[in-house]
Amino acid sequence: MPLPKAELHLHIEGTLEPELAFALAAGNGVELPYKDTEELRAAYLFEDLQSFLDVYYSLMAVLRTEDDFFELTDAYLARAAAQGVRHAEIFFDPQAHTSRGVPLATVIEGLARALDGGEERHGISTRLIMCFLRDESAESAMETLDAAKPYLHRIAAVGLDSAEVGNPPSKFREVYEAAAALGLRKVAHAGEEGPPAYIREALDILGVERIDHGLRCMEDPELVERLARERVALTVCPLSNVRLRVVDTLEQHPLARMMDAGLLCTVNSDDPAYFGGYVGDTFHAVHEALGLGEEKLRELARNSFVASFLEDDEERRGR
Ligand code: ADE
Ligand code: ZN
Repeated sequence: MPLPKAELHLHIEGTLEPELAFALAAGNGVELPYKDTEELRAAYLFEDLQSFLDVYYSLMAVLRTEDDFFELTDAYLARAAAQGVRHAEIFFDPQAHTSRGVPLATVIEGLARALDGGEERHGISTRLIMCFLRDESAESAMETLDAAKPYLHRIAAVGLDSAEVGNPPSKFREVYEAAAALGLRKVAHAGEEGPPAYIREALDILGVERIDHGLRCMEDPELVERLARERVALTVCPLSNVRLRVVDTLEQHPLARMMDAGLLCTVNSDDPAYFGGYVGDTFHAVHEALGLGEEKLRELARNSFVASFLEDDEERRGR
């Protein structure tokens, strides 16, 4: 029986397995620049975040209809359930779809139909987190927030992802203020490739509740102390960090040191179709590579529920 856990850092577009990508491409008449799934998988050798993002965005061309988004999401829920996931807070990237002419309604309705069946079909409760692409303009993020107004009942929080360096959290101050005014919760990727100062900005300027990744906080002892004191959750993604060369090897990953420093860490899969494992695989990998024993794995699983939006969401709904 896998340990029951919540997954808090998962890009739904990053669950697009090569087999499904080719099936959807055939159904939608989209030509992929790869001969077959083997050739596609062989392209998953990344140098850094940007080299991954290039493949990630280009493969999204196969996602066109509401059914495509349903199928993608339902397939993720089935895989996650098999690895002990009981609750998932799922990122999606609306701008990566609207910019290719796929309406926001198509995306959200496909995702929502799968999530609505999540409890019954897979035993997983869910939340949706709408991410802004930080390498697009703040105006584009604001337009995206505006366009999402008819779907706010479907969206728990906003997030910030894509190319981090050169796109600090402060760029999105106004859009985060507007999101908060609409009653949305806030998270942001920070300290993946970007410096510890971006983590501070995410906290102080955007007012986020959780930091996605955050591992570069380890370069700044004062920041580590603050994150530990304020119990700010970090959604750490060890397999992603190795594949995107944020760390050289899993054995060198700072997760164990982060936990020893008193940080509220969770373990997540980020983009599992690209990074070699879903969240249960990730738990197994950190056990093997970092020697995290049963007790530490239980702590990580417990943290995932503590850091989730489950706890106080119901009260907030009366807002
Ligand atoms: N989008 C999908 N995965 C991402 C990651 N690891 N960092 C930033 N943006 C992303
Ligand atoms: Zn991510």
